[in-house]
Amino acid sequence: MKSGRLVLIVGPMYSGKTSELLSYVEIYHLGKKNYKAFKPSIDNRYDETFIVSHNNTRVKAYPIKEPKEIFKILEGNEKAVFIDEIQFISEELKDIILNLIDKGIDVFCSGLDLSFKNNIFPTTSILMGYADEVIKKKAVCHECGEYTGTISYKTIENGGEIDIGGFDKYIAVCRDCYKKLNEKQKKEQKINMNKLF
Ligand code: ADP
Ligand code: TMP
Ligand code: MG
Ligand code: ZN
Repeated sequence: MKSGRLVLIVGPMYSGKTSELLSYVEIYHLGKKNYKAFKPSIDNRYDETFIVSHNNTRVKAYPIKEPKEIFKILEGNEKAVFIDEIQFISEELKDIILNLIDKGIDVFCSGLDLSFKNNIFPTTSILMGYADEVIKKKAVCHECGEYTGTISYKTIENGGEIDIGGFDKYIAVCRDCYKKLNEKQKKEQKINMNKLF
């Protein structure tokens, strides 16, 4: 049997990862091919049971807590599997995906490559190694307006590295603006500390 392929879409917030994932869903939908879409249940930002982009395109999806739930939900006739927000799914996802590909199922995944602290998300990094195609998206930098946004910046003071949100908490910026914003934030923190003592 012909193997399936793994396509991985990565980038910062607002870079169009979910929109691109949904454009692949449409290809299978138009081709009348069976597929299923999944998302981590932790992602309840816009909807619990739909994958939703920032401009409100959406597709019905199964919320999962563990990657092995995917096997239980599949009926055996699917030609493709779609998974959004993979950064929130455990690293075991890799074994599930390799098994699906082996069975001839195409797998399309999207998720953040980096946290706002500039740390990698391990599941995304691992899947980059196995992917047949990695699509790295960019956002428009919120600060300088250039189409060079590669990292997300958290605008509220709360260090949680896993923290569901959108425009209320995060912007996308380029490398230089990320540096400037972090330096400014450090300076402001110093001033506040000096005021305290
Ligand atoms: P992601 O899943 O990567 O966060 P989405 O596919 O959900 O991205 O949303 C992409 C859409 O977000 C764009 O088509 C655009 O309408 C909107 N958007 C808002 N802010 C930005 C930005 N700074 N750069 C690019 N697109 C943005
Ligand atoms: P998005 O890439 O589709 O915009 O969604 C990213 C989700 O990840 C969103 O709910 C915010 C969350 N997030 C974190 O939990 N930690 C982070 O460091 C960043 C950048 C986003
Ligand atoms: Mg998204
Ligand atoms: Zn910039």
